[in-house]
Amino acid sequence: MSDSANDSTPRGAPPPRAKVVVRGVHKFFQKKKETLHVLDNVNLEVGEGEFVCFLGPSGCGKSTLLNMCAGFESIDKGTIEIDGQPVTGPDPRRVFVFQEYGIFPWMSVWDNIAFGLGNRSFEEKHTIAQRYIDLVGLSGFERAFPMELSGGMKQRVEVARALAVDPDVLYMDEPFGALDSLTRLNMRSEIVRIWGEERKTVIFVTHDIDESVQIAQRVVVLGARPGRIKTIVDLSALEHPRDIDSPPYLAARDELYEAMGVSTRIGGK
Ligand SMILES: Nc1ncnc2c1ncn2[C@@H]1O[C@H](COP(=O)(O)OP(=O)(O)O)[C@@H](O)[C@H]1O
Ligand SMILES: [Mg+2]
Repeated sequence: MSDSANDSTPRGAPPPRAKVVVRGVHKFFQKKKETLHVLDNVNLEVGEGEFVCFLGPSGCGKSTLLNMCAGFESIDKGTIEIDGQPVTGPDPRRVFVFQEYGIFPWMSVWDNIAFGLGNRSFEEKHTIAQRYIDLVGLSGFERAFPMELSGGMKQRVEVARALAVDPDVLYMDEPFGALDSLTRLNMRSEIVRIWGEERKTVIFVTHDIDESVQIAQRVVVLGARPGRIKTIVDLSALEHPRDIDSPPYLAARDELYEAMGVSTRIGGK
């Protein structure tokens, strides 16, 4: 009998270290005289290097929860920690990728990406900016201005700019929502490829079930009024590239449709 047959050490990768820890989080907004309970006792851990989607209907509190993780929105009750440190406010390393184009129209691709790099030397900025320009597939467009770029290319600039500051987490809030459907599909593949190369922790907000099942390792499904975690669907066994016709993929997709309370059948009575 070989040694390995007696070896009782567990196989496979160890569970990832917790990167983001959300504990007992509540959020209230004051709307005129009414108090809106937007998030109700949210508890969640996102592992280091994990790709997580927050999925839920419009208005359920996805952006609010993302903003709270990034320190842009105050926490009314509970705590959020990143790398064991409580989140208390904004940080220059927490850059969002939004749906609306946040890049500066008067700056070249290179300048947009180097913008957040502060007072590093020119050489250092150059090395970092070029690395991320290459990573997102924009080599040759360094001197181009946003008006010369397609929607998908502008989103690539946004992703490069966010990654260039070496963020603890890549925060994405419906980043592909304004793109046409083919570009959107292409960008989903691209973000998974980039995540595979960088292994950054990604929190990606979407209301699109198919988007979440195509890209995420885990999907956190939020329900509305007040926002609570309804269920968490683990898709980590579905390796990339994902075969969208395979039975395990379709089973995961159906589970998410059900969690969202939506039928997988269109039309008819
Ligand atoms: N600054 C704010 N003041 C008052 N209400 C807000 C504010 N931001 C969000 N809301 C309300 O909180 C709820 C959740 O919003 P949001 O997090 O943007 O939802 P989602 O991103 O899931 O669409 C919505 O009802 C929205 O109207
Ligand atoms: Mg939102």
